[in-house]
Amino acid sequence: MRIPFIAGNWKMYKTTAEAKAFAEEFKKLYSGTDVKTAICAPFTQLQALVEAFKGTGIGVGAQNMHFEEQGAFTGEISAAMLSEIGVDYCIIGHSERRQYFAETDETVNKKLKKAFEAGIIPIMCVGETLEQRDAKKAFEVVGTQLNRGLEGIAPQQAQTLVIAYEPVWAIGTGRTATPEQANEMCAFIRKTLEELYSEDAADAVIIQYGGSVKPANATDIMNMDEIDGALVGGASLKPQDFMAIIDF
Ligand code: 13P
Repeated sequence: MRIPFIAGNWKMYKTTAEAKAFAEEFKKLYSGTDVKTAICAPFTQLQALVEAFKGTGIGVGAQNMHFEEQGAFTGEISAAMLSEIGVDYCIIGHSERRQYFAETDETVNKKLKKAFEAGIIPIMCVGETLEQRDAKKAFEVVGTQLNRGLEGIAPQQAQTLVIAYEPVWAIGTGRTATPEQANEMCAFIRKTLEELYSEDAADAVIIQYGGSVKPANATDIMNMDEIDGALVGGASLKPQDFMAIIDF
């Protein structure tokens, strides 16, 4: 049985003071909940969140990392630096990074390998653009992202993965995929994992939907068979809104 996992992606929002205020309020609301959760925050907020969430079961994630262990890579952060301060997760291959920061399936693949080595659970993002969906290429695009991104990754590692299906056209636009569209792609992702690995490995992977998830649509999305969770942007910035999604 897969435990639902709903993660927040704060993107480039919140100062450390704001993050601490969120944490104090959110941990009271979250206590006693059995849905798993994590907040993926900007680098400078991670340590404060790890501290604030100690003993609460609330996870902490980064939104990116570099694929080298160390070196002359000005401005970058390594997987070891994240795990040292107690970070549990790292979003890898978010469409905003693919679009604005030259992330490719190859860099996603290298980052996944390093994250696993450091004991960090990757939240691997895949998803098609509107143009690709309209051209009926959505499944091909996501299939390629999975095949290339997961190249050389062992089944024991792959089965601990979290995959987030985030159609680019639904991110921050208020336009969600219908629950059926999201479910169909999540089913395709699981089938692809089964072909790449095994039924058991595919069954273990948490597959989230992301893109304009709000308290008002969370129930319909979370009730779909193939959707195990959500990656929430805008609606994860307020403790009450995020908690309303977790309480779907
Ligand atoms: P929104 O929920 O703001 O559409 O963002 C989705 C997202 O990109 C989460 O990673």
